[in-house]
Amino acid sequence: MFATMGALGLAPTAAAAGREQPFRAPTASDFHLTGRSAASVLVIGGGIAGLATAYELGKAGYDCTILEARDRTGGRNFTVRGGDTTTDLYGNTQTARFSRGQYLNAGPARLAQWMVTLDYCRELGVPIEVFTNVNADAYLYNEKAGMTAPVRYRAAKADYLGYLSELLAKATDKGALDGELTAADRELLLDFVKDYGQLGSDLTYRGGANGGYTTWPGAAGTPGVLRTPAAGASEVFATQVGRYFAFEFEYDQAMLMFQPVGGMDGIPRALTRAIGPGRIRTGAVVTGITDTGRGVTVTYRQDGRTRTARADYCVAALPPNILAKVPHNLGTGVQSALEAITPSSAGKIGLEYRSRWWETDHRIYGGITETDQDVTHIWHPSYGFHGERGVLVGYYNYGTDADSYARLAPRAREERAVAAGVKIYGAKYRTELASSFSHHWRQTPHLEAAWHSTPGGPDHARYRPLTEPAGRVHFAGDWISYMDAWQHGALTSARRTVTALHTRVLST
Ligand code: PHE
Repeated sequence: MFATMGALGLAPTAAAAGREQPFRAPTASDFHLTGRSAASVLVIGGGIAGLATAYELGKAGYDCTILEARDRTGGRNFTVRGGDTTTDLYGNTQTARFSRGQYLNAGPARLAQWMVTLDYCRELGVPIEVFTNVNADAYLYNEKAGMTAPVRYRAAKADYLGYLSELLAKATDKGALDGELTAADRELLLDFVKDYGQLGSDLTYRGGANGGYTTWPGAAGTPGVLRTPAAGASEVFATQVGRYFAFEFEYDQAMLMFQPVGGMDGIPRALTRAIGPGRIRTGAVVTGITDTGRGVTVTYRQDGRTRTARADYCVAALPPNILAKVPHNLGTGVQSALEAITPSSAGKIGLEYRSRWWETDHRIYGGITETDQDVTHIWHPSYGFHGERGVLVGYYNYGTDADSYARLAPRAREERAVAAGVKIYGAKYRTELASSFSHHWRQTPHLEAAWHSTPGGPDHARYRPLTEPAGRVHFAGDWISYMDAWQHGALTSARRTVTALHTRVLST
């Protein structure tokens, strides 16, 4: 009968357990006529995967308890506001001085439309707004390529695409591509590149409105003054800013992107509320995991004391690099799989300014400036337009760039980030600064990673001990999904684990 219910979509099926989609949340009625009932579950880690696990299992009446090492839920989903204090593993303590309404999403900050994260926002009533991931008026600046001033995205693109199109058009016209193209294809290609690159009838690029104006057009008598295009293809290619153009087509980064209104932590806060804060123990640092065969015993330190918790099952939803340091009896396969996953670095600095000079002086409303300086990405805020103040992300960098900033004291991080920004935006980048707050994930206690690298992908045989339960312990997290470094990965991984656990409880 259970299999029949599964086929009718009334119960989870074995097939569904192995796939991310579709997901059907467990419900209390799944237990009707089965003679079975919801189990107790210890969830280790109150990040997005752990919260989603407890939330979904809670819909069917599972007795879930979350053990969270930090003093708040959300894991890497961390929105920094005025008054928030952190201490990193180097011992740097910072208290954010952002003014009311200003915030920095230190971790996740953007959501693609196809991501399941948006379904949770809808279900939990977390309002969303557009996150501007691409802006034609943001800057590109490659210092090492010899650029002495930033260029607007739209200008760089017009010149790149213009000269690229010119080359392609001329080659096509000369018959250089005749071996590849039919006569009809050739005409269609020419039509396309003439339009795409704004070419003249002689197939030459001489600039155009797509690159923008130095004086914008307006009323009659003001036709505008076009910007002067780069002098030739070689001048354009030398800037190497073309490397930034593919980003806007990426499957996980293409506009439109979204963010929760008021900060990304609206998601963990809503999940925490829905689960019931009474089910969550914060400041609980797990020190041991034992599968007893009949249940799972977890020891943890809280308020200076060692405590014990027991349940029928456990879901380990903490970072693999942290779990690898916890004594357990889950086997060497689990341990070597955990150790094969490597943690990555990333950091951000929020710079609060007394004025939104990037809007008034530069006419940039949201979006990202890209540079080859070690700050890597500079983000303009996608909220609070035309307000008094605003928080720029002064760096969002990874790997060795992130680690070298992390090694500096917070004041020195600010100074180095500001020096880079001044080169692009001018003096106000320094003179309008009110305060800053920096955050580095590899140096954050109990997380020690921004995201993880899983060589070979999560379905490689070496990770099977983590994609299947180890006795009564199941695993969940973005780090064991194909969408590492995204909440979508944590949420789909949690759903998969919830389905597997619920199916197991219903059938054993
Ligand atoms: N999700 C993170 C971000 O949007 C990290 C990431 C960057 C993941 C780029 C994939 C690609 O910045």
